[in-house]
Amino acid sequence: MKIGIVGTGYVGLVTGSCLAHLGHTVTAVDIDVSKVEMLKKIQVPIFEPGLEELMQPLVGKNLFFSTQYADFSDVDAIFIAVGTPSADDGSADLKYVYTAVESLSLVLKKNACVILKSTVPVGTAGKVRNILLSQGRTDLMVVNNPEFLKEGSAIKDFLEPDRIVVGADKEEAFDILEKIYAPLVKTRNCYLLKMSNVSAELTKYAANCFLATKISFINEIAQLCEIIQADVEDVKKGIGSDPRVGALFLNPGPGYGGSCFPKDVKALIYSAKQVGMDLNVVNAAEEANKRAKYYAAKKLEKILENLKNKVVAIWGLAFKALTDDVRESSAIYVVNELLTKGVSQLQVFDPEATKNFMSYFPRENKIKCFDSQWDCLKNVDALIILTEWNEFKTADLTKLKTMLNDKPVLDMRNLYSLQSVEKVGLRYHSLGRK
Ligand code: UGA
Repeated sequence: MKIGIVGTGYVGLVTGSCLAHLGHTVTAVDIDVSKVEMLKKIQVPIFEPGLEELMQPLVGKNLFFSTQYADFSDVDAIFIAVGTPSADDGSADLKYVYTAVESLSLVLKKNACVILKSTVPVGTAGKVRNILLSQGRTDLMVVNNPEFLKEGSAIKDFLEPDRIVVGADKEEAFDILEKIYAPLVKTRNCYLLKMSNVSAELTKYAANCFLATKISFINEIAQLCEIIQADVEDVKKGIGSDPRVGALFLNPGPGYGGSCFPKDVKALIYSAKQVGMDLNVVNAAEEANKRAKYYAAKKLEKILENLKNKVVAIWGLAFKALTDDVRESSAIYVVNELLTKGVSQLQVFDPEATKNFMSYFPRENKIKCFDSQWDCLKNVDALIILTEWNEFKTADLTKLKTMLNDKPVLDMRNLYSLQSVEKVGLRYHSLGRK
């Protein structure tokens, strides 16, 4: 099929590349001229493992990049994958979606399918339909097809989905989506779930809010474990092995971050308020997450007794491993809190995210960036681990003890077994374990 993509951000680029990989002819448009030029040369502006390799044989063959909406004139379906940032009140700002729809109404061929891939609040499909009607386009179909990709494993998530959610109000629209995803449904035996537009819109938010709640739940249980001397890793196994709970997304950490959970939690709380409902559980998950983001600084203060004039190393700035993304990363909160509490220097290392991180602290001379996870440990009073990068997981613990000169480690991702740290005599503090 001929498919268009509006927006070559993370979602648009992954979606477009994967659809081309499945054999469709894909044209992706972005207003950013320099980005489009880069993409034509297969210079990928985001860090996503496997994406460049996937694009390599496709670009110029059946994956094209352009700045012109006119290039969408013969597409059968078009995915809108532009940003929906949080407005100040927590609502999702849809200006980019609506501008795209207006531009599309001028160029799309008859009976094309407009697919909302961006995460959009309940009721957006209806508003998009109204915009199209006001432009005289009664023929175009509007579909919601939320994405469930995780940064760092986006290609696998796209090509091996658990389910594909499609919201529409016309059988022809479902038929088009079935054709687009036929290779995945057939080979992967995954479900294509058909529902109304509003149900699909809510499914996306409910999925992210549920997962965020699960993380906040285990983070609070971890804090409780510390008080009552239980081990959260055991509790996690104990509850996660019940299939009704499920073992995934039960890892305690320094609070969830990224461009999705924090924004979507806020947006769902806002949408529910608009219709007169308080989402108490989701509200509580958000509050617990705020506390989780400051917990590392609080814990370190207890360990060192006083943070004034201390030098602290940080391993991991990205909001999770396998990404250079630092949006809403706990590292930003931890660093701000440590600076407020008087540390004299922060020596930070991340394999991919240092540059993005420093854009949040452009004039902060107390932060020193390092190219090596070991060099940043010189002369520090403590190390905090915030991101679960593989190089931290597999670090030589004897070397770590030596480099730290017996100073303590605060591991907010529980990367090491208690036996292994005991064996080398590392001064080790983790989350929800003794
Ligand atoms: C999330 C969802 O997992 C995807 O399904 C969804 O498509 C995406 O948002 C989106 O809406 O676009 P992502 O933001 O890439 O994906 O990252 P996750 O892997 O979900 O992690 C989010 C945060 O939760 C990270 O800070 C991570 O460290 C934290 N987390 C995750 C935990 O603290 N514990 C866990 O067990 C899992």
